[in-house]
Amino acid sequence: MSNEFRYTMPHAIQNQHHTNFQHADISQLCASTDNDRCLTIEKAIFHALENVIDPELGRSLVDLGMITSIAVSSRLQDNELQHDDDGVDLYDAHINMEITVSGCPLSQQLLDTVTQAVILCSTSYAKVIPQVSITTMSSEKLSDLMKRLKESRHDNPFLHPTCRTKIFAIASGKGGVGKSSITANLAATFAALGYKTAVIDADIYGFSIPTLFGIQSQPTNLDGMLMPVKAWGVNIMSIGMFAGSQNAILWRGPRLQRSLQQFLSDVWWDDPDVLLLDLPPGTGDMPISVAQFLPSAQTVVVTTPQKSAATIAARSGLMSLQLPGHVCGVIENMSWYDYQGDRLYLFGQGGGQQVADHLTRDLGYDVPLLGQIPLENDVRQKGETGHPAVLDDSGHLTQSLIAQTFCSIASSLLHED
Ligand SMILES: Nc1ncnc2c1ncn2[C@@H]1O[C@H](COP(=O)(O)OP(=O)(O)O)[C@@H](O)[C@H]1O
Ligand SMILES: [Mg+2]
Repeated sequence: MSNEFRYTMPHAIQNQHHTNFQHADISQLCASTDNDRCLTIEKAIFHALENVIDPELGRSLVDLGMITSIAVSSRLQDNELQHDDDGVDLYDAHINMEITVSGCPLSQQLLDTVTQAVILCSTSYAKVIPQVSITTMSSEKLSDLMKRLKESRHDNPFLHPTCRTKIFAIASGKGGVGKSSITANLAATFAALGYKTAVIDADIYGFSIPTLFGIQSQPTNLDGMLMPVKAWGVNIMSIGMFAGSQNAILWRGPRLQRSLQQFLSDVWWDDPDVLLLDLPPGTGDMPISVAQFLPSAQTVVVTTPQKSAATIAARSGLMSLQLPGHVCGVIENMSWYDYQGDRLYLFGQGGGQQVADHLTRDLGYDVPLLGQIPLENDVRQKGETGHPAVLDDSGHLTQSLIAQTFCSIASSLLHED
């Protein structure tokens, strides 16, 4: 994106910010005049903020035109430079940041990040004290920004030849086998492993992804472009987020048929590494839409261990014969229940392997059993409170068997071609 930054600086450095300014320059401050010091700190802050990325738009605050002014002045009292207890001179850095919409839920996070970045511009000679004010972008500036962003992306970014997103559609022959729970935990695992991860809840009539991630907020609508809601490190879009809202109208009626298309074209996805789709159970329009709009999507089949479920799951997998998507594996869920030292196979055994064997035979390529997930109270209980069971309270992967199994599935999926 072109850099349309307009600096409101007391020192005339507007055209100098392309110079390769290094933090090392600030270490020279002791020899500089006060005015030079202010200028140097301003440049350092500018470059620091170039590296602060807006969590929704995935672009630098500076590139987005969100930093509208940086003004540094020494803190004076009776014409004397003020310093801290260690004799370090104090500098106030007044920064104005324009956010895209007022009341943006991420503005506090952004404020904290900017404040921290500015503090880090301090050196042994100059202590920088951030004074960050937040205002809201004018509607003209916002629509101009969104216009530029829309021009820089493609209608369906996942169809573009340069798209490097790995797309996995999570499918099952019937409902209730844990497809959404697996989608949520797998996505949380990918995100915790450091992959930029997105989820589309493609189960339009039976959505459960917002609940599983504890999402209460709605996507921000930036001039017609919807920002996915981020939860547990995952960018998420579900029709369930619109329930009861004004925006719901936009998505209802005949347009619901086109919802996948809209999820792809009207949402700012920003090149995720991994995109998971929680498909509705069984066969229907959605897998066909996926094949049409996300031809690079691969299918992961979820099944339970009993044989009847295995047959249905295989049928759903076989649907992929008509779809371009490669079936990259099977996940068996509810495989056993560990109770007081005993491993109980409540739903029988072998269904996952059976489905994998069926698919391997019928599709003519290897469809492996990627993993077996036991029945665990945590999966259901934590899921109901919006907390993926693989993560601890601070969002890190736990040491549990389930977390390890999801990590191993995640790694197999990314190495699958
Ligand atoms: N491994 C598991 N252990 C315990 N409960 C599970 C497990 N997987 C799923 N569940 C529970 O089973 C129910 C159905 O799961 P869900 O993910 O909604 O299935 P689907 O999306 O296939 O309909 C939910 O109540 C969920 O919490
Ligand atoms: Mg579901």
